[in-house]
This record gives sequence, structure tokens and C-alpha cells, in this order.
Amino acid sequence: VSTAGAAHWDNRYQTVGAESVSWYEAEPTTSLELIKAVGATPADAVVDIGGGASTLVDHLVSAGYQDVTVLDLSQAALDVASGRVGLSVPVAWVAADILDWKPTRQYDVWHDRAVLHFLTEGHDRNRYLDIMRLAVHPGGAVIIGAFADDGPTQCSGLPVRRYTTGDLQDLLPDLMLVDARRHEHRTPAGTVQPFNWIAGRLPG
Ligand SMILES: C[S@@+](CC[C@H](N)C(=O)[O-])C[C@H]1O[C@@H](n2cnc3c(N)ncnc32)[C@H](O)[C@@H]1O
Repeated sequence: VSTAGAAHWDNRYQTVGAESVSWYEAEPTTSLELIKAVGATPADAVVDIGGGASTLVDHLVSAGYQDVTVLDLSQAALDVASGRVGLSVPVAWVAADILDWKPTRQYDVWHDRAVLHFLTEGHDRNRYLDIMRLAVHPGGAVIIGAFADDGPTQCSGLPVRRYTTGDLQDLLPDLMLVDARRHEHRTPAGTVQPFNWIAGRLPG
């Protein structure tokens, strides 16, 4: 496994602050639009891969989603999110490296914003895709956002692989595409970071 360890990410969240990290979004608009676009409903099980302290879980819980899992390498990030959302709501918090994760159940929706792009080695990407296939129900939805081909070359001091929407589709040749789009994320510091996104359904 060639990704940075949990300590790197804990340190980013703790020293920079969950609302000041470059990837912070108060409103995860693209994610919410794409979750809607794939036809997900509050009855669906959603896993947010590398969700960290993202506010996506807050929005899903508010919308009535009953089965949300947030997986992240950083316990510090999960603590921020679970502290915000509250422990009384049904969210599963999983502190794990995606590349070591052994899913014990399946989900209807796989969401990843800005995690896959850290996998610069082909064998790590293949492993990620194998784990995704195990974790998603046949016919389930996959939504992935990564730095665009003209986006930043690194994030949080780590190199990234950049993607066109076509590059993302090439990772999942059997995905029935529902939406592919570019979104320009504005960081808390005011920098624009272009992302490319794909959303679709795996064969049933
Ligand atoms: C750029 S941040 C994006 C966080 C979140 N998806 C969002 O949109 O706010 C990348 C996240 O991936 C997590 N991460 C990095 N490598 C990971 C890995 N191998 N397994 C699980 N999580 C990882 C980090 O801890 C961090 O929370």
C-alpha cells in the first residue's frame, strides 16, 4: 500500500482545521446532485469513501437516509464528523485504509470525493476497484470525483493522478453512465480546483 498513513491525515485535520482544509465544502452540492441523479432514495445504503469530516453525511441524515457509512483513514476526521452529526443517528463510522478494507456487507451507493486521485500506482487503483466491486450491490451506484486533468498536481503535500471524465469512465467500463461533469471547487482560501465527476450504475 503506497498511500500516506493515518498520521498524515490526522495531522492535516488537527493543525489546519476541518473547515479550513482545502477540500472543505459547507454544501457538497455536486455530491448531492449526483446522488439524486443516480436515483438514490433515503432507503438506500450509502458509503462515503474517505469521507473524512465532510458534511455530506449531515446532509444525507437530514434528508432521512437511515443507512450511511463513512470510511476514512483519519480517526480525527471521523471524530469531527460524528461530533457534529451526533451519535444518536444511525451512521457507521469506519476508521480504515480503503486498500485494506474488507467490506462485510454491500451498499447501494459508493461515493468518493477526492480519495481515488491519491492512488498514483496502478496496483493500488486495481485494488480499490476490486474492493468497490465487493462493496457495491449489483445494480448499485458509483459516484467518483477527482482532480481534473487541468487541476492541481498535488493535495495536502501528496501527489495525485488527474482525470478527465473519460479517464474515470475507463476505470469502470461497464458503468452505465448517468452523469459526467466538471465542477470548480473553491477552497476556503479562495483557490479554484477543477474536479471531474462521474456517476452511474453497475450492471444488475
Ligand atoms: C481530500 S480529502 C477529501 C475528504 C472528503 N471526501 C471531502 O470531500 O471532504 C481526502 C480524504 O481521504 C482520506 N484518505 C486518504 N487516503 C485514504 C485511504 N487510503 N483510505 C481511506 N481514507 C483515505 C483522508 O483522511 C481524507 O479525509
